[in-house]
Amino acid sequence: MKRIKEDLDAIVLDTLNIKAEQILKIGEGVWHTVYKLKRIDDQDLVIRIKKNEAYGELQAIDEQELTTEYESTKAYYLHANTSDQNICPDFYQYFIEDDTVFTVETFMGRGTDLLLLDQNKAHSYGTKLGQIYHHIHNQKTSIVGFGELHWQGETLRGSDSKNRDELWQEENEHVLTALNMLIHSSLCFDKEKVGQRIHALIENRRTQVQNISLVNQDVTPENLILSDEHIAIIDPFPRLDFDLKYAAYFVFCYKFLLPAFSNAPRYINQAYQEKSYVLDKIADGFISGYCSNVVGDERTTQTRRIMDEYTLWVLQEAYEHYDILNHPHLNHKTTQQMGNREMITARLHLCLEELEKWCTESE
Ligand SMILES: Nc1ncnc2c1ncn2[C@@H]1O[C@H](COP(=O)(O)OP(=O)(O)O)[C@@H](O)[C@H]1O
Ligand SMILES: [Mg+2]
Repeated sequence: MKRIKEDLDAIVLDTLNIKAEQILKIGEGVWHTVYKLKRIDDQDLVIRIKKNEAYGELQAIDEQELTTEYESTKAYYLHANTSDQNICPDFYQYFIEDDTVFTVETFMGRGTDLLLLDQNKAHSYGTKLGQIYHHIHNQKTSIVGFGELHWQGETLRGSDSKNRDELWQEENEHVLTALNMLIHSSLCFDKEKVGQRIHALIENRRTQVQNISLVNQDVTPENLILSDEHIAIIDPFPRLDFDLKYAAYFVFCYKFLLPAFSNAPRYINQAYQEKSYVLDKIADGFISGYCSNVVGDERTTQTRRIMDEYTLWVLQEAYEHYDILNHPHLNHKTTQQMGNREMITARLHLCLEELEKWCTESE
């Protein structure tokens, strides 16, 4: 502890030349330990120190990889703040020096514990988030390409350079491939109904090409700060991908994925199952917020499209679970994130039930 304190003092004073009144540990994720720097005449900051270990494995310092990670965060913060002031930290700097890796950013406050939210509050936070994500998705990005981001020495770039229509049709083909694998497996579910519904959905989807936007793949509640004073997004994991697909990803996480993963070692402490009614209300609010720019029939269509995309996320998740179970050995990271074989099998069946449900309701 004393060692950490001395290291922090050295970072704060020598590297940053910042005078902190008080340094307090406020959080810890899988990758970073987070301290709040309380300042007298200026806004408070946080310092996020990269951990040496994650998922029980020592993390080598790969400068290219770390630069990609932190430049992506920086780009997302800037992008989000252009469409919505103060949604993300406005101060952000990162340091990669020998064995010291850390970021310094604006302290965005403390969020309310989800268990303390009543259903109306949860819905209203969700609505605000939906509006915020709609703005973020509609803000034009200067980053070119598609998919995973990579730092190119001076700029970030999406790893795939195919054009939008090509990427769109390729993705629709991938969905059908995953569907076929599941249908030709020995798994038990209503294959006829699911097959028919997904084929019809994809036929329609092919004609509704979505826009490529800067999207966030890590929307867990730990990376959101929800309070009456303000709402903030921190620690994003950005990529370039289709907008409505990722609006639906948020809904999919809050309605299905987080509760379904609550028994995995990685998530067990977050008690997502206990919070599932709050998460569900946040998701409902999100849909209405994301669609609040349209009314009437257009709104019904937009909501339906989001739920179609939701159905595809469920299919994708079922396929990934099925695929993992076909491997003879599960590595440590997988069992931490997904649980043991038994849990993965149970979750696969949960995915298939959810898939059946959505393939029936929309008939
Ligand atoms: N800028 C910030 N403002 C307020 N709290 C923060 C900030 N950054 C991190 N935290 C707190 O620290 C926790 C872990 O930080 P995070 O950056 O998400 O770590 P990791 O990269 O390991 O997921 C967050 O869930 C949040 O509670
Ligand atoms: Mg985090």
